[in-house]
Amino acid sequence: MNRTILLLSIVLMLNGLQGKSQVTVNNLRCEYLDNPLGIDEARPRFTWQLTSEKSGMSQTAYQLSVGRDQQEVAGGQGNSWKSDIVESSVIPAVYEGPELLPFTRYFWSVRVLNDEGQWSDWSQPAFFETGIMYPSGWKGSWISDGNGFDGNSIQVKQAPYFRKEFRAGKAIRSARAYIAVAGLYELYINGERVGDHRLDPMYTRYDRRNLYVTYDVTAQIKRGENAIGVVLGNGWYNHQSTAVWFFDRAPWRNRPAFCLDVHITYEDGSTETIVTDKSWRTSFGPLVFNSIYTAEHYDARLENKGWSSPDFDDKQWKDVLNRAAPSRQITAQALHPIRHTQEIPAKEMKRINDRTWLFDFGRNIAGVTRIKVAGEEGTVIRLEHGERLDSIGRLDMSNIDQHYRPTDDSDPFQTDIFILSGKGEDEFMPRFNYKGFQYVEVTSDRPLELSKENLTAYFMHSDVPASGNIHSSNETLNKIWQAGNAAYLSNLFGYPTDCPQREKNGWTGDAHIAIETGLYSFDGITVYEKWLADHRDEQQPNGVLPSIIPSNGWGYEWGNGPDWTSTIAIIPWNIYLFYGDSRLLERCYDNIKRYVDHIDESYPSGLTDWGLGDWVPVKSQSPKEFTSSTYFYVDALILAKAAKIFGKQADFEKYSTLAGKIRKAINDKYLNNETGVYGSGLQTEQSVALHWGLVPPGLEEKVAANLAKRVEADNRHIDVGLLGTKTILNALSENGYPQLAWEVASQETYPSWGWWIANGATTFYENWDIHAANDISMNHIMFGEINAWYYKGLGGIFPDEEHPGFKRVILKPNFVTGLDYFEASHEGPYGRIVSSWKKKGKVVEYKVSVPANSSALLYLNGKRITENNRALRENPLIEANQSGDGATVLALKAGEYVFEIR
Ligand code: BGC
Repeated sequence: MNRTILLLSIVLMLNGLQGKSQVTVNNLRCEYLDNPLGIDEARPRFTWQLTSEKSGMSQTAYQLSVGRDQQEVAGGQGNSWKSDIVESSVIPAVYEGPELLPFTRYFWSVRVLNDEGQWSDWSQPAFFETGIMYPSGWKGSWISDGNGFDGNSIQVKQAPYFRKEFRAGKAIRSARAYIAVAGLYELYINGERVGDHRLDPMYTRYDRRNLYVTYDVTAQIKRGENAIGVVLGNGWYNHQSTAVWFFDRAPWRNRPAFCLDVHITYEDGSTETIVTDKSWRTSFGPLVFNSIYTAEHYDARLENKGWSSPDFDDKQWKDVLNRAAPSRQITAQALHPIRHTQEIPAKEMKRINDRTWLFDFGRNIAGVTRIKVAGEEGTVIRLEHGERLDSIGRLDMSNIDQHYRPTDDSDPFQTDIFILSGKGEDEFMPRFNYKGFQYVEVTSDRPLELSKENLTAYFMHSDVPASGNIHSSNETLNKIWQAGNAAYLSNLFGYPTDCPQREKNGWTGDAHIAIETGLYSFDGITVYEKWLADHRDEQQPNGVLPSIIPSNGWGYEWGNGPDWTSTIAIIPWNIYLFYGDSRLLERCYDNIKRYVDHIDESYPSGLTDWGLGDWVPVKSQSPKEFTSSTYFYVDALILAKAAKIFGKQADFEKYSTLAGKIRKAINDKYLNNETGVYGSGLQTEQSVALHWGLVPPGLEEKVAANLAKRVEADNRHIDVGLLGTKTILNALSENGYPQLAWEVASQETYPSWGWWIANGATTFYENWDIHAANDISMNHIMFGEINAWYYKGLGGIFPDEEHPGFKRVILKPNFVTGLDYFEASHEGPYGRIVSSWKKKGKVVEYKVSVPANSSALLYLNGKRITENNRALRENPLIEANQSGDGATVLALKAGEYVFEIR
């Protein structure tokens, strides 16, 4: 033993004697957010991660301390709640202390006991701050500049600006603004915009729930004179544009309104609340038109300089009107907000003539552009945004404007209109609109000089943290993954959408197909929890859901069968699998039940053809009854599993029986038991049966062989639509055909994901056929499952239903031929999971990371498997067994591993 090792051992020994743990607790989150403000949750959830120098570390118990004093909490002595020592190794933990007070900052800390009986130190405290919590907490009135009684106010095009001055007489210790809005808003204090959120608050079913947002405005409010300014946008609340979904006739429609409470605490402990009331003033300004759907029009000549600062002369401004609150539920917006996540300079600009320019941003995004330009007063600039060019290189919107039904030419599609003030450089960026685009054609009504720098694009979406990464030696694969992410994020705006241009609708089917793609790569729980609250708001008493959510009422008539609206079951189930958190499933339990009961009552045979089927297929169409009944089966099964988790034995039995009945009905009608063929043996039919577990035990191999044959006959290319894309690659790779799955996934000729990339795609499309006449949005996530498949079919990373939240990770990597290097990593609740492989001649080097306080079950095939050049049994963290089919199954404790597989 050399000296350093000797010393180290002594240190470790002494540490051990003192019971000092080598575990540190970090990444503390409350409600899946970092130190959130404005939480209304009565029983917030806490999560944390452990780091440890030592492999194999796990938590056997934890204790939480919650209180209002940071120092006390840091020492484990929180005055609000000290939990018992909870013998559990799983997160999240739930607050079980005395009722939380509104408007209060609580610090919290946690310590954990490791499997060697040592306690960690109390973690660095994190905090959460409660919001309004109870309706009686609101002090302000809902105000606006118009109301629903004068039929005209909803037609008024100008956005209303509001202002209020007040004096803060003493030094300020802290200040919070709570703002609830029907429509959209920007909040200003003393001339500066508060926060960096965009398109706040998130879209909800406005007549059932409205969200409010909390800001720490301590730094913005000064001792002395202050001014608050608010500008309101229409959003989905006062939809003035006319399209086939009739959002202009939404039952909630009204002139936008808001309610604002600003709580000020002075240094001397006294408090004051500034509220919305009749003392506020209102006026129009430069924002002369705004539509979330189409665009925004801005007349810089009408700017009111200093309108949100003190000392502005508002004599010409008008009184405000009191308004009814839009709904009875005004709840906290506790999710990652929409933000500008990337600034994208123009890649090219083509001057077409002295009044026309074409900007190319090099990639397709959802977002906005900002123009900065100087020109003559009154110059009218139009900025048309689109995804593609026509044959002569001019902007072409024909793939995205076909559902728009304008009544005149005053509201052109995806076209901002900007009128210059003539006073130096003018600047404009829409506040209350976003678009889907790669190109912008700018026209001016008189000659102007423009260069590439005049226009900048911003990628916008719900700013969910990245939680996964894929990288490989295949460039097309890498590009597909990037394009899939771009499409996923382009369609995440507080609710998942189908596309950011033509519709911006919360299409349910698209979203459940993309749920794993979303959750492997992004920490999306907060957005989905909000969206499932929208589901609960929308559900009819009889269980029916609309096909788009939120909805104005459209979608109860079309497209809302189980193949689409099974979001109500599939999304909470996946959140449970990915986060190990059953709260959403619990909150949706009765809704899932009502939904399943409704289908059961309407289709007592177990078979239903309610739905849209395998939407936008390559060529073959599978029977709708087969796919819709499968989703009915999936829902009944999820419900049965949820019943079991929540200890509802009678429900568990009832819905297990129902699931069995549906499965039998499907198999009786569609499965040929002799041949193992479902229906006519199409890719969707065979793969849906395998993926969703319809196949009777013993027949899987036959069904899979038929699928493989079908795929080979289809020239190893896909022949699926929306529902089949979910299943085709998974069914192959999980049933003995990973190589074939890879061949299909890596095609670069039509029809394939690679074909899009080969044709310059930077996002996923709505149609396999890039020259199709219909359904040709260029930014759809509905065919997005391939991104999840990379994690599963190549990296082999799966959540384990028995130990959800990647508490135990299932690893079943496939070292496919034709790919030399592949790495998948996923940041799960316990930490970063890595599955990475590289071919070295005949040897595969396979690296794995299993985060502290979790474990993995690794399935490997190979004649000889070593780890770190040692026999497997020499590593005490590995327990090796043989599985039934000859694979080696390794139970891995937390740690880093390098396997060599021959
Ligand atoms: C949307 C789809 C959606 C479908 C339902 C389309 O217009 O863009 O993505 O799922 O309608 O049929």
